Amino acid sequence: TKSNAERLQELNDAAELGGGQARIDRQHEAGKLTARERIDLLLDAGTFVELDKFVTNRCNDFGMADQKIPGDGVVTGYGKVDGRLVYVFAQDFTVFGGSLSGAYAEKICKVMDLATKCGAPVIGLNDSGGARIQEGVASLAGYADIFYRNVRASGVVPQISAIMGPCAGGAVYSPAITDFIFMVQDTSYMFITGPEVVKTVTSQEVTKQELGGAHVHSETSGVSHFETQTEEECIAKIRELLSFVPSNNAEDAPFVPTDDAFDRRDAALDALVPENPSKPYDIKELIGHVVDDGYFFEVQEAFARNMVVGFARLGGRSVGIVANQPAHLAGCLDINASLKGARFVRFCDAFNIPIVTLVDVPGFLPGVDQEYGGIIKHGAKLLFAYAEATVPKVTLITRKAYGGAYDVMSSKHIGADINFAYPTGEIAVMGPDGAVNIIFRKELAEADDPVARKDELVAEYRETFANPFKAAELGYIDEIIFPRDTRPRLIQALEMLENKRAENLPRKHGNIPL
Ligand code: COA
Repeated sequence: TKSNAERLQELNDAAELGGGQARIDRQHEAGKLTARERIDLLLDAGTFVELDKFVTNRCNDFGMADQKIPGDGVVTGYGKVDGRLVYVFAQDFTVFGGSLSGAYAEKICKVMDLATKCGAPVIGLNDSGGARIQEGVASLAGYADIFYRNVRASGVVPQISAIMGPCAGGAVYSPAITDFIFMVQDTSYMFITGPEVVKTVTSQEVTKQELGGAHVHSETSGVSHFETQTEEECIAKIRELLSFVPSNNAEDAPFVPTDDAFDRRDAALDALVPENPSKPYDIKELIGHVVDDGYFFEVQEAFARNMVVGFARLGGRSVGIVANQPAHLAGCLDINASLKGARFVRFCDAFNIPIVTLVDVPGFLPGVDQEYGGIIKHGAKLLFAYAEATVPKVTLITRKAYGGAYDVMSSKHIGADINFAYPTGEIAVMGPDGAVNIIFRKELAEADDPVARKDELVAEYRETFANPFKAAELGYIDEIIFPRDTRPRLIQALEMLENKRAENLPRKHGNIPL
């Protein structure tokens, strides 16, 4: 008979082999790493502590009684990223296609419960054929147990999902609730119903990638926040993202010292924003001139490009940047941009990350599609998110801030702490052209030379309103700054606001328009 020590060794070996060498080879041939290889890449070397390595399924139907693989298709535990505690679960496609059983779900729930109690992020590496078909409702129950914990952990600890294989049906709703979704090109996909069902129901023919590949979710649906070419790149990006966020909602993000001087002035900024209000420029270039070491970690880069969001550091402190992008759709706010901005603002607020807003917005995008799509309620989300956010909020108007979009983009009136404008700022109800057409319609119709008269009136309007001076007179803008001073001014403002205390009135929760 074997000693217990020998049995332990055997069990360890069996657990580590998962579904067996043949299936591991198949996983590699498909261009994918195994669950354990992924965890090794994710965590600092030697820090992984595995839990529930010997858990097996409890199903005795459909031949499962004699198919007990220790670990049951998911590797769970905790370890460190850059020396900071994280919890992880990695679905093992080599074991029953990574499909989720009752016992498997309990393993995931255990790490989620520990993570919420101890205040550290949960990272889920997804690669699964969905509900374990042999288990039926026990598997569905398992999903719901996870969803419930995802919701309760939301805003308490950061939750990150990487999709590194299939993620279909109900399985999508755990990643969907987490804060950030990473997808790997070609090998991952997410959808509610697959191509076969889509064809039966709608007669449309699509491939898995066309329906729910990394590209589609990064660019079209906005479900995914990061698209990477390889799993290695994906995992490196997750590690990097973690460096910008705190471990939980009661902490601050790590301070990262920099050699970039806090008072660095940058003369190139003085010429970056074109005087001509209809000339585009790249707001990311401006960000690059201002933040520590010019480094900007963009989130949802390919989705709603008219809105740019992401993390950077100013004076060593993590900030969330939300910016209109004049180089795309003139920086208009539309449904997708509003959703993208609102979710990012809420993440930052939940996790004590100050928000820096860069405004150059001609207004909301006009159109039947936008109205039918509900721009009213979606735009309201961005407004709501800014207004309820209690983290330090600093706003800089670089050029246009027109109409309702001026109010929405972290204006003083909805609770921004410090509002700056460049001399090129134009804060008005609308652009001079539109304004003159409306208020002088009659006069223009009757004018001898309507074109010349209009030019005069536009010039007059521009002189009066298309500048930041009126807003500064009213105190809506705290300071008009020279572009070269942007970095020092933002850092000074954030430093001043470091101990900001603000709370919303006690309530169960607000009713954000959904
Ligand atoms: N339950 C139980 N076992 C499953 C499973 C599931 N949901 N999904 C896959 N598996 C098993 C397969 O039986 C196969 O087992 P084997 O290695 O012993 O042969 C293994 O996982 C790999 O599956 P396979 O179909 O060979 O891999 P693939 O890469 O060709 O396809 C999927 C992957 C996910 C597209 C395919 O397995 C599939 O469609 N699964 C069912 C998805 C589903 O409907 N889930 C339930 C609803 S959420």
